[in-house]
Amino acid sequence: MSKPRQLKLGAMVHGVGHGWGEWRHPQAQPNASTDFGFYKQQTALAEAAKFDFVFIADSLHIHPKSSPHYLNRFEPLTILSALAALTTHIGLVATVTVSYTEPYQVARQLASLDHISGGRAGWNVVTSWLSGTADNFSKAEHPPHAVRYRIAKEHLDVVKGLWDSWEDDAFTYDKQRGEFFSPGKLHALNHKGEFFSVKGPLNIARSRQGQPAIFQAGTSEAGRNFAAQNADAIFVHVDSLDEGLAYTQDLKRRAKSFGRDPDSLSILPGIRPIVGRDEAEVERRYRQAVELVTVEDAIVALGRPFNDHDFSQYPLDAPFPELGDLGANSQKGGSDRIKQLARDQGLTLREVALHFSRPKRDFVGTPEQVADAIQTWFERGASDGFIVNSVLPDGLQYFTELVVPVLQQRGLFRSEYSGHTLRDNLGLDVPANRYSGATEVQAQQNALA
Ligand SMILES: Cc1cc2nc3c(=O)[nH]c(=O)nc-3n(C[C@H](O)[C@H](O)[C@H](O)COP(=O)(O)O)c2cc1C
Repeated sequence: MSKPRQLKLGAMVHGVGHGWGEWRHPQAQPNASTDFGFYKQQTALAEAAKFDFVFIADSLHIHPKSSPHYLNRFEPLTILSALAALTTHIGLVATVTVSYTEPYQVARQLASLDHISGGRAGWNVVTSWLSGTADNFSKAEHPPHAVRYRIAKEHLDVVKGLWDSWEDDAFTYDKQRGEFFSPGKLHALNHKGEFFSVKGPLNIARSRQGQPAIFQAGTSEAGRNFAAQNADAIFVHVDSLDEGLAYTQDLKRRAKSFGRDPDSLSILPGIRPIVGRDEAEVERRYRQAVELVTVEDAIVALGRPFNDHDFSQYPLDAPFPELGDLGANSQKGGSDRIKQLARDQGLTLREVALHFSRPKRDFVGTPEQVADAIQTWFERGASDGFIVNSVLPDGLQYFTELVVPVLQQRGLFRSEYSGHTLRDNLGLDVPANRYSGATEVQAQQNALA
């Protein structure tokens, strides 16, 4: 008998918050984004609730109008390495861009986190959408959207190739014979491609989970194909159950067309639950969250997927402006979605901005109501789980202490960890090393000359 499908839950630990206003909440800690104590406490909450993973997002370009969390925050691999030492089971997922890094360096850093944590590392592969990033990395220009996805494919292939440099039984540590490792089990990659030239091998072996799990958030055509082909788990922003269903079905169909088992791929929409113990507390907390979003901030936030475009130049209550191709070289999928909603519903700029910044009603309610919404999405196939964001400072605490027990009682979510690695949590196999089982002749050809 096959095991019942289990809900997957990740916590996005995002310092002082997503938007421009969360830091003004009376209980908010304005310096949360660089306070290790905050990250420690949030991760402890997520691990106590048996979450699959915590996730640290990232980007590499700021300006004075960036959101408070963007302005002053931790580098993901550094904070996750510190958290690895304080945790035992929860996965540790970091955003690392492919457009401004070298594969050798990324492979090494993630493999190190994977060892430090005993096989709990995950990589959210992003292409970076803010063009100003080029100015911080000695580049003449930000690569166009299509090129970024070609870079992503090659970068990821090289990283995965490097991760297999050492076969799992390569280190013999034979003191008698003086053999530290078996020479036939060390492999150079000898990669020469369009963007990268990497000989290898990597100077660190595979971890207990073989390779870190791969995460992605693809919404454009290129992004969806990249995610369907390469990701173990996919983040997405969707507005409704129907949109979630359409996206999930589309990604699973694409995964199948790439020869993958669609069930091995977890689709995880981002949600921003607001929970209260009773209806009165729900309304109070929802109002607090709504009041944190001013129209001015929502207008700035709307610019983000469009490479921080300045929307304050357009009249607020006129129809949403005609933007032509704007956004196509930034978050293509995200900016297209905004334009389409405005067009389909004939909305003004104010309405569009508030739609995307104000908390939605879907996951707002008592613990049972929020659990109902989660269960419905999960059972209808609109998601395989969720990445949970906090709107209010104690949002994760409310969710983990009030909603998770309901999900556990309903048999939808684990009450104990059954494995040790992130792949165990996500129900993924350890990938075989590409060189293991190679014939002696192949092994000699692949081995380091
Ligand atoms: C939950 C979630 C988390 C994300 N985290 C990041 C991140 O940390 N850094 C980043 O550059 N983009 C992040 N993104 C955005 C995507 O990388 C990307 O901009 C977009 O979703 C893909 O769009 P595209 O296919 O049009 O390029 C995230 C998206 C979602 C839904």
